Amino acid sequence: MKNYFFALSMAFMLPVGAAQAQTANYEVVPLPQSIQLTSSPGFMLSESVAVIYPEGNADMQRNARFLTDYVNEMVQLSLAAPKSMTAKDKPAKIGEGNILLALDAKIQNDEGYTISVTDKGVVISGKTPAGVFLGIQTLRKSLPVVQQKPQAITLPAVNIADEPRFAYRGMHLDCARHFFTLDFVKEYIDLIALHGMNRFHWHLTEDQGWRIEIKKYPRLTEVGAWRSSTVIGHNTGVEDGVRHGGFYTQEECREIVKYAADRYITVIPEIDMPGHMLAALAAYPELGCTGGPYEVSHTWGIFPDVLCPGKEVTFQFVEDVLAELVTIFPSEYIHIGGDESPRDRWAECPLCQQRIKSEGLVAKEGQKSEDLLQGYFTRRVEKFLHGKGKKLIGWDELLSCGVDQTSTIMSWRGAEPGAQAAKQGHDVIMTPTTHMYLDYYQTDNTRREPEAIGGNLPVEKVYSFEPIAGELTKDEARHILGVQANLWTEYIAYPHHVEYMVLPRMAALAEVQWLQPERKNYDAFIGRLKRLKEIYDLHNWTVAQHVFR
Ligand code: ACM
Ligand code: ZN
Repeated sequence: MKNYFFALSMAFMLPVGAAQAQTANYEVVPLPQSIQLTSSPGFMLSESVAVIYPEGNADMQRNARFLTDYVNEMVQLSLAAPKSMTAKDKPAKIGEGNILLALDAKIQNDEGYTISVTDKGVVISGKTPAGVFLGIQTLRKSLPVVQQKPQAITLPAVNIADEPRFAYRGMHLDCARHFFTLDFVKEYIDLIALHGMNRFHWHLTEDQGWRIEIKKYPRLTEVGAWRSSTVIGHNTGVEDGVRHGGFYTQEECREIVKYAADRYITVIPEIDMPGHMLAALAAYPELGCTGGPYEVSHTWGIFPDVLCPGKEVTFQFVEDVLAELVTIFPSEYIHIGGDESPRDRWAECPLCQQRIKSEGLVAKEGQKSEDLLQGYFTRRVEKFLHGKGKKLIGWDELLSCGVDQTSTIMSWRGAEPGAQAAKQGHDVIMTPTTHMYLDYYQTDNTRREPEAIGGNLPVEKVYSFEPIAGELTKDEARHILGVQANLWTEYIAYPHHVEYMVLPRMAALAEVQWLQPERKNYDAFIGRLKRLKEIYDLHNWTVAQHVFR
């Protein structure tokens, strides 16, 4: 730390652009693991500087363009156009006076990176282009937001080494309760990239709307993507009378996959089944136990009408939908939901009861045979996904219905189901309501807040989350692959409201995902967050102000 202030004061002695506002500060969100400032003079970032990338590497070329654009956006300097470096070029020579992007096989972590700044130049190295991109995000966030174009920006001399604590670092968005445009989904992915995250969990189907084109079942979007009205507030009984809906074509989904992949973010699509399926049932009533009729829901909650696992046509439907889905989304995981699926209809459906009998689904104490029917359903879906080279991920309800150990569990009803799942050998993503549900209020003073689902989840509580419960052994803890926050949108209809709910709580999540627990410090984080907020403001994003007052 001493070193840091020494180097900063050195930077102040530099002749050009020496005002503090024009000096980079590497203490960003998430805080890099190691920031070693050195005593040499820093590097002057000016318009004569170019970003250099290895010739023939399209990912690194794209990285170079991103960095060039970020510099322009942050400090209003138009760097020289990115240049490629051939194998014959001497890196030291060409890197001189420039920012060099490099691959370094000695870096251990797939997403690890280093940044070295001397008076000669800047080198950002990663084991992979994804690591380099994460280093670029750190350099981007280190830059000041300047109001007036400077001659140069000072980058204090430094050696930074960083790698994320968790490999899975996710954000979820429910585009089914309310539909959000393709442009906004891209903006959300920009937020994910800015915060050093690498998974976008895209919740695409619900009782209130089906949002993805499936060519074999056109009524899913002709009928299921639209509701004729929406209840106002918390199921008040009063409706707005306004038709709401929309869906993404497969081409548009591919556009999102590419947009995310360009930023090293994997899109995990969710088709929630067998519950939360009213929109699909409205389109194809034969998939339900009673045969309908059904309506795309106008209200919020959990509904008794779900897919009928007694019928083969249901499995044909699910497999057809997933077969199209896997051609769009290269993600190894396909999310099949599995939450909040009532057994009411199954208990009364002769076909479901026959399935229970024919499959010999005998419940143990504390279980119903219908619970095992969800297990049967899920195992069939899982087998199908395996046949397509995919892995199944689903909500923690799957644990209580005898699902296969190869399923990955998303722990939402607290962190306890996730700990149990890890003990049983499942891989786990932690996303408990207690700390990771960003549809909750962010203050207990809710009078002046936009209506939320309930709860109270301030920034500090998000920040405090420790994903690995103390009782887990080292081997069990290895199953906790990462952490994600969810944004359900029953009460969130507009982009600025989404931004308000995730900013700045996403920043707190980023430090949960990146930092070892002993390096977390909430007060210091708030200091760093104030600088990150300047980037939020630069983009005109709507930011909750509670921690900035
Ligand atoms: C959920 O929040 N129902 C997964
Ligand atoms: Zn049935």
